[in-house]
Amino acid sequence: MSFSMKSCTLTTPTTVNPTIKRIMERIGIIMNGVTGRMGTNQHLVRSILAIREQGGVRLNDGTCLMPDPILTGRNEEKLKALAEKSGVEKYSTDLDAVLADDSYAVFFDASGTPYRVGFLERAIAAGKHIYCEKPTAVDPAEAYRIAEVAEEAGVKNGTVQDKLWLPGIQAFLKLKKEGFFGEILSVRGEFGYWVFSGHDEKQAAQRPSWNYREEDGGGIIIDMHCHWRYVIDNLFGRITGVFTHAATHLRERIDEEGKPYRCTADDSAYALFKTETGVVCQFNSSWDVRVRRDDLLTMQVDGTKGSAIVGLRKCWAQSLAKTPRPVWNPDVDSPIDYYADWEVADPGPCENAFKVQWELFLKHVACDEPFPWTLREGAKGVELAAKSWESHRQGCWVEV
Ligand SMILES: NC(=O)c1ccc[n+]([C@@H]2O[C@H](COP(=O)([O-])OP(=O)(O)OC[C@H]3O[C@@H](n4cnc5c(N)ncnc54)[C@H](O)[C@@H]3O)[C@@H](O)[C@H]2O)c1
Repeated sequence: MSFSMKSCTLTTPTTVNPTIKRIMERIGIIMNGVTGRMGTNQHLVRSILAIREQGGVRLNDGTCLMPDPILTGRNEEKLKALAEKSGVEKYSTDLDAVLADDSYAVFFDASGTPYRVGFLERAIAAGKHIYCEKPTAVDPAEAYRIAEVAEEAGVKNGTVQDKLWLPGIQAFLKLKKEGFFGEILSVRGEFGYWVFSGHDEKQAAQRPSWNYREEDGGGIIIDMHCHWRYVIDNLFGRITGVFTHAATHLRERIDEEGKPYRCTADDSAYALFKTETGVVCQFNSSWDVRVRRDDLLTMQVDGTKGSAIVGLRKCWAQSLAKTPRPVWNPDVDSPIDYYADWEVADPGPCENAFKVQWELFLKHVACDEPFPWTLREGAKGVELAAKSWESHRQGCWVEV
């Protein structure tokens, strides 16, 4: 089964407004494992339901592609509750039956990382187009294998690489295109915040406990180095080498049932990345740091003609002309306000990053528009995570 606007077998097109003559095409989407944090908030509510609310995805020929989701998962109660809360009519715990239904063209997965490949394999075998959260697998061999399985089956496929559409990064890309930075020399990425362990009664843990257990697909390297791979590759140059030190700073946390558990996964990673452009990137990722910076992720980009602090929502830029001339003197308070002389760069119009990528994926499925953020690209992130571990264990640089 495949979906294309030329051989659309999904529903009879309907004209919603005779004066505009806009044609509506339904596209059935199986949303698997979306009762979790990312699935519910980013993918169901802020992407698919937001797209439905705006009247669908507008294609070049004026057709509107209307997502029609069905929620799938293991727990009927949770699915029912989410369906009722979000106004989605359909849900099912019988994934095989839903996969066998030809009226669903797309399978999306936001379940736990260890289960991803198994779900994708079943959906590809059923001829569905595939879109999923990162990491696409825990093991890079599996990540490349599932990419190959999808390619051989000829189904369209994609992986979430949401950070590329964040307003801060969009503003950075605009500045870069304008030549604001001159030659980019280095990048210092700082990501993280304090994730409460749950030991303090008044401060429950704010992230799912599986993130701190390696056996459940947890760990900051597999989580964040997948992001750093596509961020660095796309913004600064393809990664050619990695040096990483991993740590588990907090050894015990409290789970969802209030029980203590041993943290078997890394919760902090200190990494250096070399790129083919010569830009040196240094990224600290940690769930054990308190924030005194502009955003939960900041990347300081320094170039010969200008610098930027790239945050999630904002990008602050300082040109060569505005660069202060400090003098080292720890005996007096600095006469310079180092936060002055940075200007907020305009990203242009921005929407939720997940929604932007969803719209691009749906256009790719419906009319073959380019979509380079494939399962194969996602596998590169999983590979970087594995190479980071190799570097940590051997205490040396590892080629990528
Ligand atoms: N793109 C991003 O920035 C980003 C951020 C956080 C998490 N993620 C990824 O998204 C995925 C989900 O993370 P989360 O934080 O939402 O976790 P979560 O624990 O909140 O949600 C996981 C979901 O998977 C479901 N699930 C688990 N095992 C399942 C199974 N065997 N069958 C069906 N459903 C199953 C759970 O019921 C839940 O709905 C992970 O792979 C994670 O790495 C991506």
